[in-house]
Amino acid sequence: VGDVIDIDVASLPAYPFIGPDDNPFIPVKDADLERLGGSIGKVRLPFGGWAWLITEHQDVRQLLRHPGFSSDQYKPGFPVLNPIPPKQDDASGLFIFMDGDAHSRLRRMLTAEFMIKNIRRIEPLIEETVIESLERMRGLGAPVDLMAEFALPVPSMTICHLLGVPYSDHDFFQHHSAVIMDRKSGPAEVEGALGALAGLLGDLVEAKRTEPTDDLLSRLVIERVVPGELRKDELVSLAMLLLVAGHETTANMIGLSALVLLQHPEHLAALRENPDLAPGMVEELLRYLTVVRTGLPRLAMEDAEIGGQKIRAGEGVVAMLAMSNRDHSVFSDPEVFDPARREAHRHMAFGFGLHQCIGQPLARAELRVALVELARRFPGLRSEVALADAAQRPMAVTFGVAELPVTW
Ligand code: HEM
Repeated sequence: VGDVIDIDVASLPAYPFIGPDDNPFIPVKDADLERLGGSIGKVRLPFGGWAWLITEHQDVRQLLRHPGFSSDQYKPGFPVLNPIPPKQDDASGLFIFMDGDAHSRLRRMLTAEFMIKNIRRIEPLIEETVIESLERMRGLGAPVDLMAEFALPVPSMTICHLLGVPYSDHDFFQHHSAVIMDRKSGPAEVEGALGALAGLLGDLVEAKRTEPTDDLLSRLVIERVVPGELRKDELVSLAMLLLVAGHETTANMIGLSALVLLQHPEHLAALRENPDLAPGMVEELLRYLTVVRTGLPRLAMEDAEIGGQKIRAGEGVVAMLAMSNRDHSVFSDPEVFDPARREAHRHMAFGFGLHQCIGQPLARAELRVALVELARRFPGLRSEVALADAAQRPMAVTFGVAELPVTW
């Protein structure tokens, strides 16, 4: 333990990194990279302590599939990157923070639901949601905030459709989701909104027990809760996880993608001419933007070696996805946004390995439909905002802009 005690934490580069002022798409300043001193190095954490930062593509892959690292943020020594609320009693379905069998038991119950063929079934509903939001936005008249009127409602309405929240509850669901995602909301407001949504989901689970419909909640109630494989409180908290994990990430991807395409009108025009370009463009946007900016924290449960670096049991590590998605050995000219990039699909914006994003087919469908319809319905879309001037959210887990005023 000797050298661990000797570490002068104050001298380490402060993490999370923030990009250069004139180009926040770049995830780190050169000065911080220099201080890191290599592809793996120690960083100072925002709430005390230090962790190993892992930045290269192959090392991040090795780390994220290694079973000796925990995702449980309540374990002592876990490298905490954002303020976490005290452990809740109703966290029983939050498998993103679980390890081993407890994790795979819950994750397995959702894998079929998120398979591409099942996501295709709700694609018409995604289209409807996207078109409805865009036409509503047109009705409001320019200028409007694209984040509030388009990027945020699309993911929360989509998750409503997936879970099977009836139309009559959509406004309630939308309202409370918006409070949770609004960074101006105080902790008490957020807690209130989380409670309101959990209450709604609990009532829905009961309703679907007697009157199942064709949706995720009904299927899990009938196939898992009724036979006793899954508790009702686990299902409610699982549904909350889907809502929260898929909301801000997807919303920021939609908003930032719109901003990138507004800065590259030629790509927006190409998308309008040929919507088949969308899947490739979405992959490159996922890579280029890597909205999970702070990366993925883990705690070593045993001694391990990652990228030649010895990591001891009890030490924290952070996989910095934004840098591995700009690794020169995998992506040529990584700072360039190139929608025709052939290796774009090798990005890790959805993580990798044991906890790789289960919602990715859904997120891809939302992004594809959102960008194609935006290009098609708003050929004259403009924004006066350059990213460097847009209100940033530097300490947030996800990279994004708070507002995106547009005209057309
Ligand atoms: C996990 C990114 C959309 C549900 C993850 C992870 C990342 C990620 C990086 C890995 C976390 C870790 O290893 O600790 C994204 C991005 C999205 C997106 C960038 C949008 C562009 C969604 C959507 C849903 C979703 C739409 C569901 C509705 C989840 C869940 C996990 C997860 C449940 C936990 C998986 C596990 O622990 O096994 N996501 N996500 N995500 N995501 Fe997503």
